[in-house]
Amino acid sequence: PTRRAVLRATALAAVVAVAGAGCGAVPGSVTSVDEPEFIRELPIPPLAESTVAGGVRTFRLTAQEGTTELLPGVETPTWGFDGPNLGPTLRAERGEKVAVEVTNDLDVTTSVHWHGMHLPAAMDGGPHQPVAPGDTWRPAWTIDQPAATLWYHPHPHGETEEHVYRGLAGLFLLDDDASRAADLPQEYGVDDVPVVVQDKVLDDDGRLVLKDDGGEPGTLGGTVVTNGVAGAYQEVTTERVRLRLLNGSTARTYSLGLADREMDLVATDGGLLDAPVRLDHVRLAPGERAEVVVALEPGETTRLRSSEADLGGVAAPFAMGGNDAFDVLELRAADELAPSPEPSWGPSTHAAEDALHEDDATVTRTFDLDERTINGERMDAGRIDEVATVGSTEVWEVRNTIPMPHSFHVHDVQFRVLTVDGQAPPPELAGPKDTVYLEPRRTYRLLMRFDDYTDDVLPYMYHCHMLLHEDEGMMGQLLVVEPGSDARPGRSERLSG
Ligand code: C2O
Ligand code: CU
Repeated sequence: PTRRAVLRATALAAVVAVAGAGCGAVPGSVTSVDEPEFIRELPIPPLAESTVAGGVRTFRLTAQEGTTELLPGVETPTWGFDGPNLGPTLRAERGEKVAVEVTNDLDVTTSVHWHGMHLPAAMDGGPHQPVAPGDTWRPAWTIDQPAATLWYHPHPHGETEEHVYRGLAGLFLLDDDASRAADLPQEYGVDDVPVVVQDKVLDDDGRLVLKDDGGEPGTLGGTVVTNGVAGAYQEVTTERVRLRLLNGSTARTYSLGLADREMDLVATDGGLLDAPVRLDHVRLAPGERAEVVVALEPGETTRLRSSEADLGGVAAPFAMGGNDAFDVLELRAADELAPSPEPSWGPSTHAAEDALHEDDATVTRTFDLDERTINGERMDAGRIDEVATVGSTEVWEVRNTIPMPHSFHVHDVQFRVLTVDGQAPPPELAGPKDTVYLEPRRTYRLLMRFDDYTDDVLPYMYHCHMLLHEDEGMMGQLLVVEPGSDARPGRSERLSG
């Protein structure tokens, strides 16, 4: 094991020891967030170029090293796709065939996972699709799901936290008939603005540090960046602006809203809600997204901020970095604003076929999460944990059994949150989701259906998206198979090694 892995293992032993003593968790080293001056224009990740041939839209992404001024005047070594940090925004339409040529110019093995995407397991980009230094991986699939704000990031076995933390992450936007016809701001980078929020720890030389201090749920940084810079502002030229929020952090949960007004939540991880919901903040755990629409008056300034998150019963001494209030982005409205419509949209033409119905559920699975295991097991690449039949609707009963939070993510599907401890979910959990913050000691019932793609060998992953937890084994493997397949949970010689 690497030196870091050893340090991390020691830290985990401490967590378990304290939990055993009845205390529950090691307090995160509660880093207070430095408030920068908001004097840097928000960088907008460019839309990725693509070529279309033979009915396939092909993108190219190269993982590489570089340096970035996360803080003004400080050169920080970072990793990015097609640039020094983060990556271009990929964009495609429902029904399109897409392909990506992923080249690894790093000197370590990585992978690229399409988070939130419905696609064959062989194209998923998890730990079973590593890309060695110098290699190119060529996944291809057909976009077949509603318009949404998805994202992509590395998923190499045991190294996901470090690769994402160093800067490898980008957005993957999907459009469809309903989203194009919607009364929503949709001019990319103008009134439809990506906002990737991440936190970092920088040492005195400006280098990124992953702390190994045993704090839960991982490294909580005092430097918060949006689209890769601290202290960013966005000029707004329209009456309303749509913010596509992604929590791209490894551990920190945010509670994002405006300092002085409410906003309309219009979409969650997997796409549009049935109708906008007026909220003052939305909680986002690592991996979660939300689209919100903010109204502004001419000439005014407001700020997107993370308020003291309601972390759901995580006591203050174990604040997990959420009980901190800080600003993440300034919005500056011009003296004259172009009109924007009131947010509204009609149902997608696929609404009926996409819909999930609890009555259709034929399988219930339970998942108990503690500090680092799911159902008592840590991730083993050679072990299949669950086998599902294609087309069947399932209820996953996910129980967080400990007094600290997790962020539960399932590959391939968008699920619905049926209940939280038996109660209907709050509005921000009522839309399509692929990742959900698990409050301490609560049970979440999730409804999902594994459609279209089967593989008797290659699994999809489900895991905690607090990336230290994921890397330390809080992940399981699910096969989706044809009816009558003889694949069973257990060891798979074809996977090990
Ligand atoms: Cu965003 Cu399995 O990951
Ligand atoms: Cu976790």
